[in-house]
Amino acid sequence: MENRTPVTLIDLDPESNAVLTEQLKGMPGVELTAEGHDFYRGVSLIRRHRPALVILNLYPAEDAALSFARKISQNHPEVTLFITAKNTHSALILNAMRVGAREFISQPVDKEEFTSAVRKVLQGRRESGSGRPVCAKVVTVFGTKGGAGATTLAVNLASLLNSFGRSGAAVFDLDLQFGDAALMMGVKGGASLPALAENADLQDTDQLKTLLPRSSGGTALLAAPGRIEEAETATAAHLEKVLSAFRGVFDAIVIDTAHVLNDLSVKAMDESDFVLLTAGTDVPSLHHAGRCLDLFRKMGFDREKALLVLNRYGGADDIHPEAVEKLLNHPVAWRLPGQDTEWMAGAVTRGVPAVELQPRAKWSMALRRVAEHVSGVPAYEKRRRPAHAPMAFLQKLIG
Ligand SMILES: Nc1ncnc2c1ncn2[C@@H]1O[C@H](COP(=O)(O)OP(=O)(O)O)[C@@H](O)[C@H]1O
Ligand SMILES: [Mg+2]
Repeated sequence: MENRTPVTLIDLDPESNAVLTEQLKGMPGVELTAEGHDFYRGVSLIRRHRPALVILNLYPAEDAALSFARKISQNHPEVTLFITAKNTHSALILNAMRVGAREFISQPVDKEEFTSAVRKVLQGRRESGSGRPVCAKVVTVFGTKGGAGATTLAVNLASLLNSFGRSGAAVFDLDLQFGDAALMMGVKGGASLPALAENADLQDTDQLKTLLPRSSGGTALLAAPGRIEEAETATAAHLEKVLSAFRGVFDAIVIDTAHVLNDLSVKAMDESDFVLLTAGTDVPSLHHAGRCLDLFRKMGFDREKALLVLNRYGGADDIHPEAVEKLLNHPVAWRLPGQDTEWMAGAVTRGVPAVELQPRAKWSMALRRVAEHVSGVPAYEKRRRPAHAPMAFLQKLIG
């Protein structure tokens, strides 16, 4: 089968978008995705399709497009960036190069020049064995209320992802005051988020690999600060800086958050490829889930990014998932069974992720499907049963 290279076109000018789409579609070896409406959707597209080449038109919103280009270069160093523009002032060309563009192509595009530049990128990729540098998938786990299982999910998901890939996985514990990921992973020590962001050399990838302590299973951890006062000093800018550095080190970074929406947790979600909203089917949990999903929609997260996970599911009183979906107007991506068993409780006490103690248990197998999805293999649950639920009451509650 032909090995095609993912290419993403982000062009808000309909005329140019149509022309470039046609030219790219006519090129063998190109697997094209295109966005013509907004940069935010362009970000999701890049996160989802992992293009080798992004072509960005600066017209008609030069400043916004340039800051978007800077973000692509920072967060996706593996991407080759072409910038195209109607305006060909030397200052603009210089700015395009400064934000990381490999080529500047003036509009209207000369077909020969354009396709030959694209071909060069495709060829370079083939010659380098198409091995892309590491660029971590980032997943934030947010629990609708305390005890929903956010930390349990984060730690176990990271352990599974760590066992999948060549570059491993890390947990970032952003429950800065009361984070217990370190306890669940049996890891001690390591620098905190503010200390790393302010003091560490984050340029050297080899050095980065040694900065985070690892669990016995090999998963790395950026733990919550040892002293509660230190939590106060962490900022969203720290997170952006540290995430941007560690994206180039791991296959996956799983962020565990406190059950609060603050600048740090919102930043984490914004920077993520996936947000796993962990909920039970009790009334408060669903009520909070409704509010969170509402916010996620306002933040522009689509249904592929905001994924609802029902944890501890399967009790006699649990509401049917279809009823939950109707109520929240959002699909249930996965259900993880309740495992009020000795090994689940023992996992916490021993500081070993449950999936490592009982990899064949129902909960572990269910979580494996989440991990497969996150790492790139779609694995939505298939289920269709008739709904039965106290809908009207809950509908009123959530409004
Ligand atoms: N599916 C499950 N079945 C049984 N116990 C669970 C399940 N998920 C989580 N737990 C337990 O619930 C407790 C709270 O989980 P935790 O992950 O700390 O929640 P959160 O981080 O959302 O506050 C932990 O003791 C954990 O072992
Ligand atoms: Mg927690």
